[in-house]
Amino acid sequence: MNIYLGIDIGTSGTKTLAIQADGTILARATAFYPCFVPQPLWSEQNPDDWFAAVIKTVRQVLEQGKIAKEDVKAIGLSGQMHGSVFLDKNHKVIRNAILWNDQRTVKECEEIERLAGGRDSLISMVANPAMTGFTAPKILWLRNKEPENYEKLSKVLLPKDEIRRRLTGEFATEVSDASGMLLLDVAHRQWSQPLLSALQLDKNLLATVYESEEITGNLTKEAAELLGLTTNCQVVGGAGDCAAGAVGNGIVRSGILSTSIGTSGVMFIHSDEMKLDQQGRVHTFCHAVHGKWHMMGVNLSSGGSLQWFRNNLCDSLLEEAKKQNRDVYELMTAEAEKTPVGAEGLFFLPYLSGERTPHADPNARGAFIGLTLAHARGHLIRSIMEGVTFSMRDSLEIFRSLNVPVEEIRAGGGGSRSPFWRQMQADVFGQRVSTLNSDEGAAFGAALLATVGGGEYQNIEDACQVAVSTVQTVSPIPENQKIYQKSFPIYQQLYRSLKNDFQTIAQL
Ligand code: XUL
Repeated sequence: MNIYLGIDIGTSGTKTLAIQADGTILARATAFYPCFVPQPLWSEQNPDDWFAAVIKTVRQVLEQGKIAKEDVKAIGLSGQMHGSVFLDKNHKVIRNAILWNDQRTVKECEEIERLAGGRDSLISMVANPAMTGFTAPKILWLRNKEPENYEKLSKVLLPKDEIRRRLTGEFATEVSDASGMLLLDVAHRQWSQPLLSALQLDKNLLATVYESEEITGNLTKEAAELLGLTTNCQVVGGAGDCAAGAVGNGIVRSGILSTSIGTSGVMFIHSDEMKLDQQGRVHTFCHAVHGKWHMMGVNLSSGGSLQWFRNNLCDSLLEEAKKQNRDVYELMTAEAEKTPVGAEGLFFLPYLSGERTPHADPNARGAFIGLTLAHARGHLIRSIMEGVTFSMRDSLEIFRSLNVPVEEIRAGGGGSRSPFWRQMQADVFGQRVSTLNSDEGAAFGAALLATVGGGEYQNIEDACQVAVSTVQTVSPIPENQKIYQKSFPIYQQLYRSLKNDFQTIAQL
């Protein structure tokens, strides 16, 4: 029997999944690692931690699924996007990787726009404006702020592509993740030489670009031994976690949008042609579907906002959950559910790490607004969930305004496992929201890409046709929808009202 692995190098941990060609899941394992915050709004990780987690989870999956090493035909990689792994000429990591949610590159984003001949010119080259989380500004930051490290620089890889290098010895990437480096000519699916020249960056710094289902190499002898696999095992391009997650949700044709609530929140829509938001509020990237594109809006602290609240303000609930042997998020949402829709006028702005969509403002801050003595913890939790869902509706409104058809919404990611949050999404979006047979996220999409590379299907659309189906759909509740219709413009106005104050606070 042919078996395929999907490995997702996420921000909180790495998840590995083993599947059969029809998508049946045989085993799964996750290993966690730390994220370092050396200064406020910085975010770094050690690539060695990712690799240790990859080895551990692959071995666990093989053992758990009683999988013979010869049966594992191919691996699909997925990972947190935009992170920069800086390597020297001996392929040693120069410093910790700077992640997608790091906000240190405000000045470098301005520098890129200037060197590119302005924002419009930049968008015409790489389909997107400069965002602090993207990779190119990080390379310039290294050049400006750590010249001794820049001197040593010989390659820049994305997180999953650094794992690929350790597995296959190849410097390779694929179109979906490469799009988030801000160096890819997204329209032509190749590096943008005009932008590289404008930024005085050498193309040799970058990896070879593949389509997502293409084979990029085989496991080296050393890697095969570490993982407990064979050198016949192939590694396909894979995808950035957003595109891989979307593939796992079957977002491989026009009209279907997926919502994903993980640490970040992602609203992702497939597009047969390349469409642009001239204002650059949502991203236009290559899709993991061969020759297709997608648009997406990204909120930096989605599930992350609820996680922050759990970690800092839920001690008694954590104890209670431990006693009852239950997930603390279940207890938190149960408390929220007891409070009225709209949290009795309490609003939450989920900008705990600054924001990307729709505001692209690294100085934006989180806020509770409208607190009264009547509000208790349940209201706070509900308002966080509502604020996060409103931030997702911001992206939806942008897609609607660009005439991108949104016929079907599919909810995925950890947050959408909560029926309460799924209903809230339907109520806030004013559209039906469905869930799928598998909610394994990006690792599942990556494994499906491996099945295509392994020759089981002609293309990823065919693989999704077999492996992905919707199982349940919730419709908006008219009374709730009415309340959210009123609250959403207030939520939107609150950022505009506070924008200047956020800048002042950032100067403190
Ligand atoms: C996407 C993004 C995040 C990370 C999280 O643009 O920045 O979703 O990929 O893993």
